[in-house]
Amino acid sequence: MHVLKFLPFLLPTALASLEVAQRSTTACNNSPSLCSKTYGQITHLGAHDSPFVRDSTTDYSTFGNQYYNTTVQLSAGVRLVTGQVHKNNNEWHLCHSGCDYLDAGTLESWLSEIKTWLDNNPNEVVTVLLVNSDDASASDLNTVFKAANITSYAYTPSSTGAVATWPTLQELISSGTRLMTFIASLSDNTGATYLMDEFTYIWENPYDVTSASNFSCKPDRPSDVQGNTAAALSSHRLPFMNHFLDQEIGIGGIEIPDVGAISTTNGQNGTGNLLTAADTCKSAYSNRQPTFILVDFFDKGPAIDVVDKLNNVTDATGRTAVPNTNSADTSGTTTSGGTFVGLTDLVNEAKTGANPSLGNWIWVGGDWVTIFGGGISI
Ligand SMILES: *[C@@H]1O[C@H](CO)[C@@H](O)[C@H](O)[C@H]1NC(C)=O
Ligand SMILES: *[C@@H]1O[C@H](CO)[C@@H](O)[C@H](O)[C@H]1NC(C)=O
Ligand SMILES: *[C@@H]1O[C@H](CO)[C@@H](O)[C@H](O)[C@H]1NC(C)=O
Ligand SMILES: *[C@@H]1O[C@H](CO)[C@@H](O)[C@H](O)[C@H]1NC(C)=O
Ligand SMILES: *[C@@H]1O[C@H](CO)[C@@H](O)[C@H](O)[C@H]1NC(C)=O
Repeated sequence: MHVLKFLPFLLPTALASLEVAQRSTTACNNSPSLCSKTYGQITHLGAHDSPFVRDSTTDYSTFGNQYYNTTVQLSAGVRLVTGQVHKNNNEWHLCHSGCDYLDAGTLESWLSEIKTWLDNNPNEVVTVLLVNSDDASASDLNTVFKAANITSYAYTPSSTGAVATWPTLQELISSGTRLMTFIASLSDNTGATYLMDEFTYIWENPYDVTSASNFSCKPDRPSDVQGNTAAALSSHRLPFMNHFLDQEIGIGGIEIPDVGAISTTNGQNGTGNLLTAADTCKSAYSNRQPTFILVDFFDKGPAIDVVDKLNNVTDATGRTAVPNTNSADTSGTTTSGGTFVGLTDLVNEAKTGANPSLGNWIWVGGDWVTIFGGGISI
């Protein structure tokens, strides 16, 4: 009788404390301490050119900016993946610079890979940023996102402009909208409002850096806040820190990722290192940490250690380390005097008018036709 009488009072209390206990032990984006933080308040580690991988599947293409595929990246703690969308044979593909150089397959297949990862990792919020190289419309992209069956995870912003406060990770997870999608650029998202125009919500520092001493915290894009940190911050856009170093190879306009410097670039010690750059930018942004940090070869450094420091995460859980850390970068990408062997071969082949193999294609900052006078055809 007494038990029955008190049960209605005891039960909610007991359930509530159980819920609190569960919540505090459940990690959001690999840490329980991040669940109550807003999406914009924490730092998300980004894999630059996520689908463009330098491994056996691409014959160790020098176009690759990562050693491991998107699934491995996400499982290791990457929470922002970027790629370039190009039209190829009337299909939307992910290609690096152009589909003749490195074609990582269809956008649909890559989104399906991310969908599978989201299915298997229910407490994780993932951001996709697509460079819209061939001006796909909202309808074009929506068709592909639907075909990949990923739209049910997509977060739709409550405002068509930048907001000071985003939902917390726990709110995004609880509502099942754990996919944040930004497109650079999309002037009209009618009919697919989950496709967020990047520069409406985000501003970036410069990305075309070829000197370790030349990383900058200044806003570069969008143009209306260029060079003006105060304007960028007060616009409520999210700070996005590009931090990857390219190397000029002495032939007009060609730049490739500076792999030789990667442990410093993604590390915590030395000119141009990630931790110092992030701390410097945080100070320059009135103690606001960058929401996104975008790196090449994310596993080097390792960059995730810097992101954990920024997020005050000491209890990271649920990550899978990358396989065979050392084998990936010794096979096919051996350097000779700081230049890729494959690259030297390519340049020599190209100069004699031969058709270089796909595996030797390099990252191009310039225009092939101009550089080689139209001597290359694929
Ligand atoms: C990603 O790479 C891992 C390790 O190399 C491999 O096992 C897996 O099949 C790859 N996944 C996809 C979707 O390509
Ligand atoms: C689409 O995804 C949802 C869950 O995210 C799943 O329930 C449904 O079966 C999927 N549909 C197809 C056709 O795969
Ligand atoms: C440093 O960056 C500035 C602009 O951001 C650029 O004009 C300059 O050429 C760069 N210097 C080097 C050495 O890369
Ligand atoms: C930083 O790098 C320098 C030069 O490589 C080295 O002498 C120093 O011990 C390093 N410091 C830390 C804290 O790793
Ligand atoms: C981490 O701690 C620093 C220093 O107290 C603080 O500025 C920052 O906002 C914290 N970041 C997160 C994501 O909690």
